[in-house]
Amino acid sequence: MNAANKNPGRVGPEQARILVEAVHRLSGIAVSADKTDFIEHRLSRLLRRTGIDSVNGYIQELQTAPAGPAAQNLVEALTTHTTSFFRERGHFDWLEAQGFPALLAQGAGRARPLTIWSAACSTGAELWTAGMVLDTFARAREPALRWALIGTDVSQQILAKAALATFDEDDIRPIPEAMRQRYLLRSRAKGGAGGRARDLTGAAAATGGGTRYRISPELRRRARLAWANLLDLPAGLKISADVAFLRNVLIYFQPEDQLRAAMNVARRLQPGGYLLTGHAESLAQLPPGMTLVAPSIYRKT
Ligand SMILES: C[S@@+](CC[C@H](N)C(=O)[O-])C[C@H]1O[C@@H](n2cnc3c(N)ncnc32)[C@H](O)[C@@H]1O
Repeated sequence: MNAANKNPGRVGPEQARILVEAVHRLSGIAVSADKTDFIEHRLSRLLRRTGIDSVNGYIQELQTAPAGPAAQNLVEALTTHTTSFFRERGHFDWLEAQGFPALLAQGAGRARPLTIWSAACSTGAELWTAGMVLDTFARAREPALRWALIGTDVSQQILAKAALATFDEDDIRPIPEAMRQRYLLRSRAKGGAGGRARDLTGAAAATGGGTRYRISPELRRRARLAWANLLDLPAGLKISADVAFLRNVLIYFQPEDQLRAAMNVARRLQPGGYLLTGHAESLAQLPPGMTLVAPSIYRKT
């Protein structure tokens, strides 16, 4: 009798291999099968939540329906959604100083909306940061600018969270005060999104542990959220972006999947559009037609 039989919640090496293969097949995310403690910890919550009484029972569900709910939930459980407003701030400074002016100079935002795509958007912090920066830029430089945001992710759970567009005090800390005033609504209700929100303009800084903040309607109405796996983008997903954020997701992929994801995103960029990767995620091989213009910033010719 092996360890897994004695303890039904235990993840042994063979089970780890099956679980990480399922995650890789569905999302491209390469979790190391050696991380059995990590996998076991994340799976234990899933077992409790689903009422399945053993790791082997879970694997059986996976094998019965390889793309079913058990598989989707496993991807959710083993995926990292860490994100923050103004993460890797240099990208936003660069867009404001160089990227947006260059896009305007080539006509973006006139005949069609200048479109920013957050391609692994997690809770949306990156998407809304981009919206705040672009809206601020447009107000100062080109009030008639047409623009739009799109956020995609492989996790349905995180997209549901992103759709609420609601954040807590810690989340909003990196947002400069003037932008908080303009782009956030404060909700007094604990749990936030369902509560009655009021405009923050002129309001004193929020205190209270339960205070939640919602992105203002003026940004929300510009945005669209959709499910998409970067390794196999849905045919029906119509995107033609001027700026694509592909940040802090490539590190979870094998090199060949990194290139595949980058190519999938690059294909949906306008000529002259920009692809931004995480600062720690330089592309070993560039998608055709892309050139490096600054560290972790690529332009489509
Ligand atoms: C660490 S977060 C990065 C969020 C944001 N881009 C940032 O830099 O702050 C990684 C996100 O990538 C998503 N993800 C992982 N694999 C994906 C795939 N194959 N296609 C689309 N999104 C994926 C995860 O669900 C997660 O929300």
